[in-house]
Amino acid sequence: MLYFLDTADVEAIRRAIEFYPISGVTTNPTIIAQRGKNVVDTIKEIRACIGDDRMLHVQTLGETSEDMVREANILRDAVKGNFYAKIPVNEQGIKTIQILKKDGFNVTATAIFTQQQALIAGVAGADFVAPYVNRLDNISSSGIKVVEDIVSLIKNYSLNTKVLAASFKNVEQVHQVSLAGAHSVTLNPELCANLLYHPLTQESIIDFILDGYNYYNL
Ligand code: G3P
Repeated sequence: MLYFLDTADVEAIRRAIEFYPISGVTTNPTIIAQRGKNVVDTIKEIRACIGDDRMLHVQTLGETSEDMVREANILRDAVKGNFYAKIPVNEQGIKTIQILKKDGFNVTATAIFTQQQALIAGVAGADFVAPYVNRLDNISSSGIKVVEDIVSLIKNYSLNTKVLAASFKNVEQVHQVSLAGAHSVTLNPELCANLLYHPLTQESIIDFILDGYNYYNL
């Protein structure tokens, strides 16, 4: 399992990477807007925080393939290091994924809501495909089922594509996609902390401290 942070909050990223095994950061235009700064300034801040080795996934905004390719080049040149262009899976996006892969980019296909969108993106060469679990659950569909099927399709066709499950609102959703075989998840920092939390763990640690206090003169 690879854990990503789905945020542009640099302070939250700094805190999370101190404690958690974080492989990278994912952003989208909404997340960038929440930071309230230009995209290039924001992703440079994130890169400075996470270093060159961790993955940084940044989405393009253009509506044509030409614009997506142009923006992907600008974004990659701005942050260098381990960079992934996030491309949405409409027709222009699938064309873009194939161009970017020929140009040597790492690519994450995003805004995925169906199994077949993921399969086409994988065949086009996407390194990651990002299904939106909670947004599916919210329309009485099953985000977990979609992730499970995408994992099977990737195996069936021996694709070198990983599932980057996204859009989570609770720990149970993360648990279910990990059971389904998702290769990675991207989480907001609060949810990341919730994965670890259990009141009995807190209680046990306090009990150990009280019990061992006079016997651990280390
Ligand atoms: O970055 C894509 C995905 O994580 C969006 O999540 O919470 O806006 O549905 P959310």
